[in-house]
Amino acid sequence: MRIAVVGANGPTGRHLTDQAIAAGHEVVAVTRRPGSLTPRPALTVAVADATDPAAVDAAIGGTDAVLSALGARFSKEAVTTYSASAKAITEAMAGHGIKRLLAVSSSIADPNWRPAGAHFFNHVLDPLVNRRLGRTLHEDMRRMEAVIRETDLDWTLVRPSGLFEHSVVTDYHTADTSADGVFTARTDLAASMLRELEEREYVHRAMGVITTAVKPNIAKLIWNEGVKKK
Ligand SMILES: NC(=O)c1ccc[n+]([C@@H]2O[C@H](COP(=O)([O-])OP(=O)(O)OC[C@H]3O[C@@H](n4cnc5c(N)ncnc54)[C@H](OP(=O)(O)O)[C@@H]3O)[C@@H](O)[C@H]2O)c1
Repeated sequence: MRIAVVGANGPTGRHLTDQAIAAGHEVVAVTRRPGSLTPRPALTVAVADATDPAAVDAAIGGTDAVLSALGARFSKEAVTTYSASAKAITEAMAGHGIKRLLAVSSSIADPNWRPAGAHFFNHVLDPLVNRRLGRTLHEDMRRMEAVIRETDLDWTLVRPSGLFEHSVVTDYHTADTSADGVFTARTDLAASMLRELEEREYVHRAMGVITTAVKPNIAKLIWNEGVKKK
């Protein structure tokens, strides 16, 4: 398959690109920073801001599916990256007759998601980090989900929990709507998207994905995701 990966130079996008190429796909990496990707025969780089309809239209033409792993930062201001890129991507897909879309969202987009037994997370971290500091980001993620749900595309919303880096793909779990767990390795998120691309188990649904085989080192996670990434 020829796959457009939006946000291809991001942490998840890089795993998606590497795993897709390793699985024999061709990848069109849609990115604002083309120089940051290692050239490979199965990789084409398309420079585009994902919120720019004309740039997205030019970038994804000729692909069979679009996988979006783009992300925005927490902000006090309104975030529009998710919904604006969803509009640009879905309109360009409709124009080109590309049907299959997988877009990374978050477990937070499920209003009923409360992972079992995670008392500190549910009562302290989630209200403070996700629902307060990340409020405007998650509002726009929900707008993105609404934009995608209204299309005639074969869409799947992919909802991971807290992302962390792990070197290999594990025996991850997926579930309808959201999955009962606090963490998701980015390798597993990428692998679940590529498997869903083939298996189509969650077309027109949200797929939760979590990692249970390994747990992240919390100090390292806060450093990597909260301090280093800024
Ligand atoms: N962190 C978590 O715990 C967590 C939990 C659940 C869900 N998620 C979601 O999972 C997704 C992937 O997260 P991640 O940490 O792997 O990636 P990320 O750091 O959020 O960023 C992914 C990429 O998106 C690209 N991007 C942003 N705006 C763009 C635009 N207008 N046009 C083109 N590219 C754009 C960025 O490219 P540039 O390099 O050009 O800026 C970046 O490389 C995100 O949507 C995130 O919100 C995260």
